[in-house]
Amino acid sequence: MPAGTNAYRGLIDPTHEELILVLDYGGQTAQLIARRVREQNVFCQMVRPDLPAERIRELNPKGIILSGGPASVYEPGAPQCDPRIFDLGIPILGICYGLHLTFKALGGEVLPGKHREFGRTPLHVDTTDPLFAGIPDRFVVWMSHGDQASGGDIPLQTLASTETCPFAAVKHKTRPIYALQFHPEVSHTEHGSRLIGNFVQSVCGCKGSWRISSLIEREIEAIRNYVGKSRVICGLSGGVDSSVVAALLSKAIGKQLSCIFVDNGMLRKGEAEEVRQRFSDHFKTDLHVADARKQFLDELKGVTDPQQKRKIIGRVFIEVFRHEAKSIPDARFLAQGTLYPDVIESGANPDGPAATIKAHHNVGGLPEELGFELIEPLRDLFKDEVRTMGLELGLPEDLIWRHPFPGPGLAVRCLGEVTEPRLETLREADAIYIDELRKAGLYREIQQAFAVLLPVQSVGVMGDARTYEDTVALRAVTTDNFMTADWHRTPYEVLGRVSTRITNSIRGVNRVVYDISSKPPSTIEWE
Ligand code: XMP
Repeated sequence: MPAGTNAYRGLIDPTHEELILVLDYGGQTAQLIARRVREQNVFCQMVRPDLPAERIRELNPKGIILSGGPASVYEPGAPQCDPRIFDLGIPILGICYGLHLTFKALGGEVLPGKHREFGRTPLHVDTTDPLFAGIPDRFVVWMSHGDQASGGDIPLQTLASTETCPFAAVKHKTRPIYALQFHPEVSHTEHGSRLIGNFVQSVCGCKGSWRISSLIEREIEAIRNYVGKSRVICGLSGGVDSSVVAALLSKAIGKQLSCIFVDNGMLRKGEAEEVRQRFSDHFKTDLHVADARKQFLDELKGVTDPQQKRKIIGRVFIEVFRHEAKSIPDARFLAQGTLYPDVIESGANPDGPAATIKAHHNVGGLPEELGFELIEPLRDLFKDEVRTMGLELGLPEDLIWRHPFPGPGLAVRCLGEVTEPRLETLREADAIYIDELRKAGLYREIQQAFAVLLPVQSVGVMGDARTYEDTVALRAVTTDNFMTADWHRTPYEVLGRVSTRITNSIRGVNRVVYDISSKPPSTIEWE
């Protein structure tokens, strides 16, 4: 993700009324903590684990949360916090690794435990402390730790325990410091959201005034000031993020916005037309549709290797985009739908956590040498917040909840050579599948579903004749973050209807199979 030097840093100006910081120790669920806090209508940012106390004081948060993490605090090189943060007088909540750090910093001890405690565990709450207000005194929490902490001489009050963990929840007797051995942010912990809410509201004293609707107003104002009279280009993909950016910019600067939509021919059925209608007809945007279908197909001729397909599509996309952008001579800015998880994972923010090594499919994107200044108005938002914003901006529900679609599009779902007749078969099969999922009310509970055209012919029978035709695979997954996924238990009747419709109405397909692999070991896409 290119981070232009002059890039507009996004929605949130640094003068939030209320801010909670999450010091990120690399736990898989650290981002979930930030999302839970934001559900309380309080702005929350992930920052470097060792952010100095002076910088934290400058940022003036209402509270600090230390996340979990995979290390052991006593290991050499394990990430630490600045121990002076415990003297700032700002409320602190340490979670798991964060609890160990808290104990270590305050003079307690952390040692390898005899057993690793992992999974759901009953918790006994022994307190009327505001942290547990409105929560039953027994409930199930999610544990995942090997180390055990002991408080030594720290003046601690135990708030809750489990059979094996005497310090499942503790509080410092004189300072606003709390620590939990379990993970309140995950859905397996009952009342976890309430607990985080109690910390944010009762302990930190936040009122919860952060709203997407008021954010939109502030953002529109900020974009207008930033852009002045200049022209902004926005690349539309048909997906949620770029559509929300375009809708926001259209509201903010109207006629100064030009959108570019590259039709690479690898799109789902009806997609190009929908983009045209929505942005040209509805938002009255200056929309440039680059019809590059033939160019992409020509370049993909004879190519079967998936990575090769991706490379070609990436390169041709940039060529076409650059060419189209040149036809808009006075453009100075380029708007992109970069989201907060990308920003966190790219390590782009100087106060933010370090980059995580992750094979991000979208790396590459549009190169900086296009020569534009970047505008990234969604840089501080999680996906669910972007959806809320899109709905408030008047984008239709079915776009907002549309499953993600890979940049190389149907090319990586058309296994083997990509040809127009094969794409047409795949487009029809995919449309039937999605239609049946919608009719069955299943589309929203699935995070991604699509058809794949296999390079496999098999024998079938139609009427009295033997056929030798193509196979379509159906893939549907449930997932929190697309890094791991499970296959969706779609009812047989629905799968049956999809199969019958596909084989009855699409010539050249005589077999439909359902993919029952999870990720890992499989990936979500087949290529
Ligand atoms: P995998 O197949 O790696 O996919 O389990 C995880 C998520 O990433 C999407 N994906 C891509 N997105 N360009 C993209 O923009 C790509 O080349 C690409 N490959 C996979 C995939 O659809 C899923 O949501």
